[in-house]
Amino acid sequence: MNETKHILLIIGGGIAAYKSCELVRLIRKEGMTVRCVITKSGQEFVTPMTLAALSENPVFTELFDLKDESEMGHIQLSREADLVVVCPATADLMAKMNAGIADDLATTLLLATDKRVLTVPAMNVRMWHHPATRRNVQQLRSDAVHVMEPDEGEMACGEYGAGRLPEPAAILTEIQNMLGQPAPAMMLSAQPDFAEAEHRPLYGKKIIVTAGPTHEAIDPVRYIANRSSGRQGFAIAQAAAEMGAEVILVAGPVHLVTPPGVIRWDVESAREMQIEVEKALPADAAIMVAAVADYRAADTAEQKIKKKDDAPTPLALAENPDILASLARHEKRPGLLIGFAAETENLKDHAAAKLAKKGCDWIVANDVSGDVMGGSENSVHIVTKDGIESWPKAHKEVVARKLMEKVADVIGN
Ligand code: CTP
Repeated sequence: MNETKHILLIIGGGIAAYKSCELVRLIRKEGMTVRCVITKSGQEFVTPMTLAALSENPVFTELFDLKDESEMGHIQLSREADLVVVCPATADLMAKMNAGIADDLATTLLLATDKRVLTVPAMNVRMWHHPATRRNVQQLRSDAVHVMEPDEGEMACGEYGAGRLPEPAAILTEIQNMLGQPAPAMMLSAQPDFAEAEHRPLYGKKIIVTAGPTHEAIDPVRYIANRSSGRQGFAIAQAAAEMGAEVILVAGPVHLVTPPGVIRWDVESAREMQIEVEKALPADAAIMVAAVADYRAADTAEQKIKKKDDAPTPLALAENPDILASLARHEKRPGLLIGFAAETENLKDHAAAKLAKKGCDWIVANDVSGDVMGGSENSVHIVTKDGIESWPKAHKEVVARKLMEKVADVIGN
């Protein structure tokens, strides 16, 4: 029998706060209960009355609302929930969480809770990319706080980029996912043996992940590249590390934070990527998510190529090594070898052909005809010699976790 799950929703101040109303509705629709806590600045955007009506529960705003400890103390409020969700999480709120500041009800609850915390950031793109926020996100993740990646797009302030609150449906998926999962091992430090055996199915396994595009130099200032953001590969590396694996992430040029616990080797070109991947062998599994350039400039000019008055300079190309195919033939071939196939048409046929051609065990086929490259969601089909499994479109982090669970079924403890 499924027990009713209880969510404690902490709403920070920001224009995206209005979306928390929709999130409350979705959580309730799934049969869960929700108690809301709203910060002082959150109340500039949403009223406690609205949240009380939607949640059908009292809404808490002040630490002193809770002074009657016999009724509902802050410790009890932070502990009775199955999951704490911070949505939207402003840059300021995340900085306080990171520093352990407890100067209002929301931050006090976050410091007092013994439950998993899902943080859903929303802020201006420059605030999101600011080194201070990057540091805070990285540290929160190391502290086992689950920080979702914000969406990219046009912002309320008129700028464009990463920092939009993910859609409430995607947040709900993440909530369900976290409720269905065991807590990360570091939250179970009182029972390390249990954590390693039960909750870290990839403990003791080594996994290589490639991610991002490659850049193939034409001259000192120009290169051949593609639109890969690296997000899917980084999410896979993170999921593998969370499940206890030793992860070597060979990353092409991307601006992403290294997930906690992951060893990252940065490369530029396909040939450099091949060298690093081979250095990382042997491994129990390799997941080749990188969008490797098939061709490079046959010759890299030492000086910047100058524009000519007559005809444009033709660009001669040379074929790059196929890292995945060469790994399949390698004497230290990883036990489980997974390739990705980015396709814009005839996805399943092309993927099945790629599986045979590359000699890998699975192909994860994704349709990149929309905004998958750089976007936050992915819809994939897992092609193996036994057939095709199609997964519903989901946030890249959710796809990553599901894929790593499937990997753990094959190579895990
Ligand atoms: N791959 C690789 N080395 C290359 C090209 C691709 O390791 N030089 C890997 C990718 O990391 C991915 C898989 O092969 O896991 C398929 O990549 P994709 O670009 O879809 O396939 P290609 O072989 O390049 O085929 P095409 O571009 O014709 O679709």
